Amino acid sequence: MGSAEELRGRPRGTGAPLDSTAGREGAPAPEADRDGPPLVVRGLSVTFPIGEAPLRAVRGVDLSVNRGECLGVVGESGSGKSVAFAATMGLLPRDAVVEGEIHLNGRNLLAMEREEVRSLRGRVISMIFQEPGRSFDPIYSMGKTFEETFRAKNPAISRAEARERAVRLLREVHVPQAEERLSSFPHQLSGGMLQRVMIALALANDPEVLIADEPTTALDVTIQAQIVGLLAELRERRRLSLVFITHDLGLVGQIADRIQVMYAGLVLETGEASEVLRRPHSPYTRSLLSALPSWGAHYSREGLFTIKGSVPNPTRHEPGCPFAPRCYLAVEACTRAIPPLDEDRERPAATEAPAGSAGAEAAGASRLTPEAAGASGALEQTAGAWSSLYRCIFPGVKK
Ligand SMILES: Nc1ncnc2c1ncn2[C@@H]1O[C@H](COP(=O)(O)OP(=O)(O)O)[C@@H](O)[C@H]1O
Ligand code: SF4
Ligand SMILES: [Mg+2]
Repeated sequence: MGSAEELRGRPRGTGAPLDSTAGREGAPAPEADRDGPPLVVRGLSVTFPIGEAPLRAVRGVDLSVNRGECLGVVGESGSGKSVAFAATMGLLPRDAVVEGEIHLNGRNLLAMEREEVRSLRGRVISMIFQEPGRSFDPIYSMGKTFEETFRAKNPAISRAEARERAVRLLREVHVPQAEERLSSFPHQLSGGMLQRVMIALALANDPEVLIADEPTTALDVTIQAQIVGLLAELRERRRLSLVFITHDLGLVGQIADRIQVMYAGLVLETGEASEVLRRPHSPYTRSLLSALPSWGAHYSREGLFTIKGSVPNPTRHEPGCPFAPRCYLAVEACTRAIPPLDEDRERPAATEAPAGSAGAEAAGASRLTPEAAGASGALEQTAGAWSSLYRCIFPGVKK
C-alpha cells in the first residue's frame, strides 16, 4: 500500500505518469500565472496503446476552470471523464500517450519533470474518488493517514502539529468528535463519513483546484446531498476551483456554474449550467435529460426513456459523430464527418415544444423530449440535423 498522498491522489492500478507523454516542450516552465484560471486544458488527447488498435479515451478536449467556479462534467460511463482529469493530476499509466496542453496556473504540466508534477499534486490540484472505502489503507488509522499526507509535503512536521491540523480539517468538513476520529480505522466509519475524511485529506495541502470524480455515486441519496452541500460550502469558503464529475445531470445542476457534456472522449456541449439544462444544444444532452427518471414514473404506463444502444467501442475509429447510431436527429451526413464548430451559441427557446419528462424538468431542463422532437417534425425541417431547429453543436471538437 502506498503513502497517504498516493492513497489520496492515485486511483488503484495506475502508475506514475508523464514519462510517456507526447508533445513535451522541454523548455523551462514560465512563472505561475495567478490571475488567470488555475486549470486550462487545450486539445487534450489520451490514447492507450492496447492490442492492435489503440484505445482513444480522450480526443481533443478543451476546458478551463476559473477561481471559485464549479465546472460540472457529465456523460455516460466510458466517456473519458476520469481519464481526462487523471491526466490533469499526472496520474495516468506510463504507457498512456498524452497530447495537448494542461496548464496549472499558467504552467504546462506536460512539459514538466515527474518530480515537479508530484510536488504540485496536493498543493495546487487534488482529487477525490467515487469509493472512499477503497482509497484508504485498512491498517492505517485516520491520524496516521493524515500524518503521512502532511509529511509528503512537509517531512519536518511533528506528530502533535499533524494531529492539530488534522483535527482542524476534520472540523471543517463537519466530522463530529474530530479528535476521537483520529484513532478510528476505515472500517469503523460510514461511507459518507469516509468521503468527508477523503475531502479533508484532499484539502490537507490547500490546493487551488479540487477534482471530485463521482464523489457521491457510492452513497445513498441523503448523504449525496450532504456531500454536495459540503463541496459547495468549501468552494465558497476557500475559493476553490471545483470540478464535479458525475453521470447524474440531476445532481450536477445543484452545484455547477458551468456544465461540460462528454461522450466518446469528446466534449459535445458546454455552457452555463442553467442554459445547458434548460436549452441543451446537443441531442445527446437532450437524451440524457429525458432519461432522468421522475418521481412515480416507474409505476406509470409510459415507462422510462432510455438512450438506445451503448457507448461506442473506443478502439474502433469510425469517422463521423460517435453518437450517430443512437441519435434521434442523425442524418446520413452525421456518419461521414464530425460537424464543424458552430460559433453561433444562440439556443432555441425553451418553450417551443411539447412537455417532456418530469425528471428533466426537475433538473431545470427543457421540456422537449427526443420523441417530441421527432414528432414535431424537427428532422424534416431542414436538409441536415446540424442546422435544424434543435441545432447540434460540438464546441471545441478536434478530429
Ligand atoms: N488504464 C487504462 N488502460 C486502458 N484503457 C483505459 C484505462 N483507463 C480507462 N480506460 C478506458 O478509457 C475509456 C474512458 O474511461 P473513463 O475515463 O474511465 O470513463 P468515464 O470516467 O467517463 O466513465 C474507457 O473505454 C476505459 O475502458
Ligand atoms: S445530429 Fe448528428 S452530429 Fe448531432 S449528435 Fe446527432 S448524430 Fe451527432
Ligand atoms: Mg469515471
